[in-house]
Amino acid sequence: MTILETRDLKKYYGAGDTQVKALDGVDLSIQQGEFVAIVGTSGSGKSTLLHMLGGLDRPTSGTVTVDGRDIFGLKDEALTIFRRRKIGFVFQSYNLVPVLSVWENIVLPIQLDGGKVDEAYVQEVIATLGLEKKLANLPNQLSGGQQQRVAIARALATKPAILLADEPTGNLDSRTSQDVLGLMKVTGQKFAQTMVMITHNEEIAQMADRIVRIEDGRIVTR
Ligand SMILES: Nc1ncnc2c1ncn2[C@@H]1O[C@H](COP(=O)(O)OP(=O)(O)OP(=O)(O)O)[C@@H](O)[C@H]1O
Ligand SMILES: [Mg+2]
Repeated sequence: MTILETRDLKKYYGAGDTQVKALDGVDLSIQQGEFVAIVGTSGSGKSTLLHMLGGLDRPTSGTVTVDGRDIFGLKDEALTIFRRRKIGFVFQSYNLVPVLSVWENIVLPIQLDGGKVDEAYVQEVIATLGLEKKLANLPNQLSGGQQQRVAIARALATKPAILLADEPTGNLDSRTSQDVLGLMKVTGQKFAQTMVMITHNEEIAQMADRIVRIEDGRIVTR
């Protein structure tokens, strides 16, 4: 079953001579449960694509269908709710809330949606990510790699149907990266999650079911 699909997706920034075609006609289908790695050089359009897949930003033209629904046909408020229920994000910049503790950051998306925290599961994620001793700290008291792990824990905590991750292991050493990826794969299988992950790391890309390469806003291998 196709869970994520783009049709002739375009995102242009600016106009005239300075116009940037960040995405220039992307057709991509992703199956439920698939783990897809997105690779490409800096500026090729990877983050832009991930943002569109998650409905964070509206395209210039084209469609994104998530679980059978044309997401940009939704009004902003409905789109926000849909996103919160279905999609977990790990951003390139971690987007942690500075005034909330690590624990509060991790469970925030669940609470925003009025859900109940599955304590045992969240504790398991926290332990696997090695964050047990940091739960009471604020984000600015953590190292970059620790903040990255908090962002991953927060995305996994809601058990989203779709996990979109932008360089989730970019600040981690290779051993920790492998562990984190291992956890993401296991939870992915356990909860039938679909994972789309941007990575520059060849070893991590090789762990995916499929590698999608982007150049100048277009998919060159599929
Ligand atoms: N808000 C914006 N306004 C103008 N141009 C933008 C904007 N966001 C991205 N771009 C441009 O769109 C292109 C694609 O950017 P994008 O962030 O998707 O690249 P990327 O593949 O994620 O790169 P990296 O590996 O460096 O993160 C780049 O040329 C970038 O400068
Ligand atoms: Mg990027």
